[in-house]
Amino acid sequence: MAESRIILKNCEVIDPADIGTYIEKDGFKALEKARTSMSQESVIDEVKSSGLRGRGGAGFPCGVKWELAANADGSEKYLICNADEGEMGTFKDRYLLEYDPFSLIEGIAIAAYAIGAVKAYIYLRGEYRYLLSTIRGAIGQAVEKGYLDGLDIVLQEGAGAYICGEETALMNSLEGKRGEARFKPPFPPVSGLFEKPTIINNVETLAAIPRIILNGAEWFSNIGTEKSKGTKIFSVSGDVSRPGIYELPMGSSLKQLVVDLAGATDIKIIQVGGAAGRLLPYNWLDTALSFETVLGAGAVTVFDSSRDMIDVVFKTIEFLAEESCGLCTPCREGSQVLFEILERLRNGEGEQQDTDVLEDVANTMAEASLCGLGQGTAVPVLDSLNFFKQDYKNRIEQSLYIKSLLG
Ligand SMILES: Cc1cc2nc3c(=O)[nH]c(=O)nc-3n(C[C@H](O)[C@H](O)[C@H](O)COP(=O)(O)O)c2cc1C
Repeated sequence: MAESRIILKNCEVIDPADIGTYIEKDGFKALEKARTSMSQESVIDEVKSSGLRGRGGAGFPCGVKWELAANADGSEKYLICNADEGEMGTFKDRYLLEYDPFSLIEGIAIAAYAIGAVKAYIYLRGEYRYLLSTIRGAIGQAVEKGYLDGLDIVLQEGAGAYICGEETALMNSLEGKRGEARFKPPFPPVSGLFEKPTIINNVETLAAIPRIILNGAEWFSNIGTEKSKGTKIFSVSGDVSRPGIYELPMGSSLKQLVVDLAGATDIKIIQVGGAAGRLLPYNWLDTALSFETVLGAGAVTVFDSSRDMIDVVFKTIEFLAEESCGLCTPCREGSQVLFEILERLRNGEGEQQDTDVLEDVANTMAEASLCGLGQGTAVPVLDSLNFFKQDYKNRIEQSLYIKSLLG
């Protein structure tokens, strides 16, 4: 199976330090088309009819969100590009930023035009600091060529907190406050950064915009499934022979991605969507990847039969507990309880009631946590109890047996 490189079409083709090479590949034609022959409303309508959904994980319809901000009261509006990419196993935005920063900049300029923003921010993951000069250089060249007239793009570094990828925590961070999620409503398109209407979109979402405007909504919506249009970029890692970035039409199967392309031969667990994503057994290989099934931000990590399931869940929860911002009780306390139980299980000190407690705590976190971090922490725990219960049972029986021998 071959890839369908639409969003990534320029990566490793153009020179990310030379805007001329991007212009040669139809670069900035979509922006010109939008500004000279389309009203702000018609750009939004085009994005709405394309069916584009946010690529940062939640899959919210992009055009619908833009329309809310465009129609919101006030003349001061902001656009934020979420380049925080803190999800475990995700590195697709880094690839785009490194090899084709211009598609993102063009997408930002079109989005800003559509919603009426005069200032845009790129919030860059702290660990991606080495990309600062590439992105700054690309913005500078776009300014020199006159593509950004009337739009100020500010590049802001994050400081390495996973929670700051969550849109409201990110806005707090940009405002110089502690990175903690905000209560919603109000939603950002109505009241976001500095309480002004704000659109926040993922790197991949914004990089798709020039392709949609240039080729048309129908072209884009003819790719993919009924509810997930276009292509998706996946980051594949773990026990595969060809880890890396792959772009496939929505609806492609997990098997096409991890076996045919990434070269997995021995599969025990497939983690889809990162730490707060799904933990699936190999018999899910025929699943079509889309927002209707499993997807998240497109991180896929394969664990082979040499891996210990409890270890995989423990490491995942260790990360999430460490990254909990601590604001809401279900996430702060719940993730700690999950961590302590899994640590005991891992050390051979499991107790009979452990699986019940894990399930109870995870369900409470899913229902009562303030934001997606706490809610998502439940997912790997519940999946592991659902699909790999026998691994828990074996571990607990082993622990109890050793305990009985020791008296
Ligand atoms: C804990 C947490 C971390 C997140 N991290 C990211 C991230 O690094 N990048 C991203 O684009 N979205 C991230 N999101 C999703 C954002 O909150 C938001 O939905 C997204 O930026 C919206 O853009 P989109 O509509 O283009 O997907 C995260 C969400 C949560 C709950």
